[in-house]
Amino acid sequence: MPANRLAENFTDRYGGSTETVRTFFAPARLILIGEYTDFNGGHVYPCAASIGIYGAVRPRTDRELHFASAKNFPGEGAVIPLDKVEPHKEWLGVNSVLSVFDAFLKLGYELPFGLDLYFDVDMPIGAGMGSAAAIQGITALMIDQIYGLGIEDRMELAKICMRATNDFMGVKVGILDSFVEFMAKKDFAVYLNAENMSCRYVPLQFRGKKIVITDSLKRRDIADTPYNDRVAECAQALKKFQSVMHLNALCDLSSDTFEQWKDVLMDDVLVKRVRHVVYENKRVVRAFSAFRVKKEDVFGKMMNESHVSLRDDFEVSCKELDFLAGEAWKKPYVTGSRMMGAGFGGCTISIVDEDAVDTFRKEIGDAFEKEFGYRPEYYVTDSGDGVKEITSIE
Ligand code: GLA
Repeated sequence: MPANRLAENFTDRYGGSTETVRTFFAPARLILIGEYTDFNGGHVYPCAASIGIYGAVRPRTDRELHFASAKNFPGEGAVIPLDKVEPHKEWLGVNSVLSVFDAFLKLGYELPFGLDLYFDVDMPIGAGMGSAAAIQGITALMIDQIYGLGIEDRMELAKICMRATNDFMGVKVGILDSFVEFMAKKDFAVYLNAENMSCRYVPLQFRGKKIVITDSLKRRDIADTPYNDRVAECAQALKKFQSVMHLNALCDLSSDTFEQWKDVLMDDVLVKRVRHVVYENKRVVRAFSAFRVKKEDVFGKMMNESHVSLRDDFEVSCKELDFLAGEAWKKPYVTGSRMMGAGFGGCTISIVDEDAVDTFRKEIGDAFEKEFGYRPEYYVTDSGDGVKEITSIE
């Protein structure tokens, strides 16, 4: 979307000249591997996509936030006073924006005037591709820029967004999605250690292969899923381990120590949850090494095993995602496939031979339609940058 068109769409709604409108883009996030390891002090291996959310903004003279959107941004037409920023359950998109305003205000930042806001969504919402984090990322950067806060450390903005989700939205997410929003770079995946936040950028190249996102179209709002239950289960399990050993985070457990001490959990469900976390962390480390020496087959195997573990041990998949991954595993042109993000609906991520992408769409789509009565949607996206201001034609 060219920045000038975005600005024109903005002035179509709000009037005035495009000269005073500033335009931004925030990406969808992809996770190659590493689910539910972030808040357990483990590794993740994500990147940003080239699709995402566009936003345009201009200061107002009063203290109101006005919302408008091109199409499917929930909360179109809302007007919220800056002095009464409270959750509006039925307006998920607006809430994501408000959560960030709330976080800045609670941190004591002066936000002296209201804003006219306009959003154009070019990614699926509530589909495990980090739509809420993208809305928050764009909002945080807008706030920093428009109010001239001068926050130079992008990790600081990422942490504000994570806290906004934890406190205002009530979902106890880890840093992963916000990290991608602010730290991702086009053409690179980032190998992140979420315990000490050290990271390495690795050129994102699969020889002759494409990343294909398959959207089951099963939608969910993460706040209505058992996401927080999983966070609580992990915290409970950590406490039990800490009663017998020194341990900072579940991902600090080696698989040997876990196997040796798992009885301390005294609960089969907790054993399954921790088994996922410990072995998923190992899989990320292994997949990362395999990726760097171009052993795509090992990378694919780690992806497939990740799905099985999310399905059986962490129990965050659903029949649509299991079906999509299961069908993909049967195809000789698929390197690996698994559910992506928090789960309970949304998308799978698959590594597919470049010359077989059309066959993949057709064959997986046919099988899925036979089973569920409708076709999934696909995104064959390139990697992209983190959230940024867009000024020229892009
Ligand atoms: C959501 C959360 C992340 C992470 C993933 C699961 O995307 O925002 O912090 O926990 O789920 O890997």
